[in-house]
Amino acid sequence: MTSDSDQQNLRPPPHVLIFPMPVQGHLNPMLKLAHLLCLAEFHVTFIISDSNHRRLLQHTTASAAFSRYPGFQFRSLPDGLPDNHPRRGHGAMELMSSVANVTVPLFKKMMIQENFLASAARRSITCFVADGLLSFAPDFCEENGIPLICFRPATASYFWAIYRFPQLLQAQEIPFGGDMNISIFVKDFVGKSMDGLIESIPGMEGFLRRRDLPGFYRVDDINDPTLKGVVAAVRQINRAQAVILNSCEDLEGQIVAEMQNYVPRVFSIGPIHEQVKYRLTEKEAESSIITASLWAEDRSCIDWLDAQPPKSVIYVSFGSLTLLTREQVLEFLHGLLESSQRFLWVMRPDSVTGSNAEDPVPAELMERIKGKGLLVEWAPQEKVLNHPAVGGFMTHSGWNSTLESIAAGVPMICWPYLGDQQTNSRFVSEVWKIGLDIKDTCDRKIIEKAIRDEMEVRKDEFMERSTNLAKLVKRTISKGGSSYNNWDDLIQYIKSLVI
Ligand code: UDX
Repeated sequence: MTSDSDQQNLRPPPHVLIFPMPVQGHLNPMLKLAHLLCLAEFHVTFIISDSNHRRLLQHTTASAAFSRYPGFQFRSLPDGLPDNHPRRGHGAMELMSSVANVTVPLFKKMMIQENFLASAARRSITCFVADGLLSFAPDFCEENGIPLICFRPATASYFWAIYRFPQLLQAQEIPFGGDMNISIFVKDFVGKSMDGLIESIPGMEGFLRRRDLPGFYRVDDINDPTLKGVVAAVRQINRAQAVILNSCEDLEGQIVAEMQNYVPRVFSIGPIHEQVKYRLTEKEAESSIITASLWAEDRSCIDWLDAQPPKSVIYVSFGSLTLLTREQVLEFLHGLLESSQRFLWVMRPDSVTGSNAEDPVPAELMERIKGKGLLVEWAPQEKVLNHPAVGGFMTHSGWNSTLESIAAGVPMICWPYLGDQQTNSRFVSEVWKIGLDIKDTCDRKIIEKAIRDEMEVRKDEFMERSTNLAKLVKRTISKGGSSYNNWDDLIQYIKSLVI
């Protein structure tokens, strides 16, 4: 005979449905979230685009690694773009509409036809963890009686700066013109100085300038469809039962507190990549970390780093979406070479646009690079940032890269490109003071000076602050820390949703 508690144990665990936008910067943290849920012995269904699924199978061991968790399954759907579409730079924005028009209807059909993924082995979905950019999610969840947990892959500060759209508009602090995807050569707009301080975002007065607002505000017309879409997705957050942030109280406590006035439950559980590592060491070996690279990682750069002196290398990477013109590549290269520092640069295939894009580095510069620098197409970034030879990071300030750098204690030089990156870079330079922000410029002299300042002149001060911040965020995901506790609370909350 089985007792009530045995019966309880025999019931299938909660079943969490996760749906990220199909881009690298959203896939990474949401796949790590899935890994954490698997470690909590939950069932997980992960929606992935056909294109990303193919690339994961080709370049990573993610599928094999997840096969350790029988409760985990990928369900793959088309993203609506042709195979040869670049899915980067401006093209990445097209994903928002193609996902809405193609993926979402197929997803809804699958849910209804398969009775919300119920089977003999698993219950129908307990809750839907949806990427914050998926604006269909609140209606879908309300219509079907499913609890919605919104996942925000960027910072609370970015969320808050977008949430305050009506107040910014009323105070005439926006719009201010420019090109939202290209962070340089932005002119002052109808008398609004790019360096003017913004007053309508509580918690950021005194340091946030107009140029530090999310790049989506860099439009002439307030009805710009991308801006409208981003604002609409953020403003309906109060329809979610809870929000998960890949951030922590030590980095953004005050802003998280502001958010909590508008959202019922906020779980700040970041940095998620560190939380996974920490939870794994409790249960499994380090080798179990699952990577989600959509490009082949060139591991030869680790051998190259092994041969360099401690803290001597500046790592250069502009993430998965940024496009550079050949002129910009040359400004960065000259700045790096003139600084006399060693460097490792990730130059993603297809990341350079315009004339001579195929062959952006002239032969004579290639000669000068030899011995001093290494160019690769894609790197194992977390490993690189944690390598003892790395002393600085020239970054586009994507939130995953920023968090990985903070956790590794590596100071940054920020050259933001789009979206949240304009705001992240201001926090790096003015709030956490662990780097320099050179946004809205692209000049070899400025780049050279920033590198010299960070790697030589002010090296000790940047290193000290970065090391201290790394300790703080490592503490937050360790037993008793706020992100550690918030994760446990989130697990209990999801369990409470089981009917
Ligand atoms: C985008 C936005 O830029 C970012 O601000 C937002 O928060 C998420 O979506 P992306 O441009 O991809 O992201 O930048 P980032 O958030 O930094 O993510 C890039 C990821 O790719 C990081 O996790 C990084 O470790 C990884 N990466 C990058 C590699 O593994 N290897 C590389 O060579 C370069």
